[in-house]
Amino acid sequence: MADTAAKSSETYMFQYKGYNFTKNTVTPEYIDSLEDFEIRDSDVFLVTYLKSGTVWTQQIIILIHEEEGCNATESQGSNAARSETFNATQSEGSNAAESEGSNAAESDTNMKRMPWLEYNLEGQDYNMRPSPRLFTSHLTYNLMPKMLKEKKAKVIYVARNPKDAMVSLFHFSKIWTYVETAKNIGDLMEKYLSGQVVAGSWFDHVRGWYTQREQLNFLFLTYEEMIKDLRGAVLKMCHFLGKRLQDSAIDRIVEKATFKNMKNDPKANYEFLPENIILKDNGKFLRKGTVGDWKNTLTVAQSEHFDEVYRQRMKDLPLKFVWDLN
Ligand code: A3P
Repeated sequence: MADTAAKSSETYMFQYKGYNFTKNTVTPEYIDSLEDFEIRDSDVFLVTYLKSGTVWTQQIIILIHEEEGCNATESQGSNAARSETFNATQSEGSNAAESEGSNAAESDTNMKRMPWLEYNLEGQDYNMRPSPRLFTSHLTYNLMPKMLKEKKAKVIYVARNPKDAMVSLFHFSKIWTYVETAKNIGDLMEKYLSGQVVAGSWFDHVRGWYTQREQLNFLFLTYEEMIKDLRGAVLKMCHFLGKRLQDSAIDRIVEKATFKNMKNDPKANYEFLPENIILKDNGKFLRKGTVGDWKNTLTVAQSEHFDEVYRQRMKDLPLKFVWDLN
């Protein structure tokens, strides 16, 4: 088991270009190289601030693409099946690499099928991956490849009430060996509000991406709307990704994306990670999956302080979140 006692803020992260990276997972040279990373029109990026529903949305996007794969095979012999899926992006690919193959085998884990752009833990050659390439990222907008704006690549951004994301991080810090174990929620909150945690400031992250939304092929979702209406969120993603699926296919995706089913899905629940990364005896990646857990964790004074900082930092952003901050 990894030594959690040895983890402190200096040993677990380093700052580069205003962002806090986990140590021993990425180098400044690699981050620099991403600036010129070649984007394809057919690329799909899921971007989130950490603990905002990343692996959940990752599962949905993969499942949406999987349905397309099934139908492509079925359609060879069946007109009915052919009409089941309409892929608006099909005509984009001009060469074999762009239009054939899949990202990885269906038996692969979600991390392999939709890897993190910045944390290439499996050493994949992203340039060799067939289209459509699916990527996950916690990066801020300024660290993303320059070509993102020029290309038609799609970005799905998911935001979560930062109080719930912080509480999720609090528990996550007990199991994830790459982050500092939080001493207590008050201590974490001070660091969180000043951006001294992995991935930096929640406020900067949301602002950086949201203010670019009109320059990008961009879908903005919240964790809370996914909880409220998962099917509606799946339909939104399908529409954005140019996929028209039959009701039965949507039903399958929704079913496989429920908290209960994902918890038992070995490709999606991140329990496949080795013990030197995730301390399985200390908790689960899929922990609670609810809205408003901050109410069970923060004191009234802590919550009010958080709200005040939130109001100050977000006041000029024309963005109204659906969650209730009080
Ligand atoms: P909690 O710790 O509040 O339970 P990320 O993937 O960005 O690290 O986010 C992790 C959070 O998303 C965790 O929140 C986790 O339980 C939640 N989550 C993951 N899959 C989910 C699902 N299918 N439904 C609801 N929440 C989910």
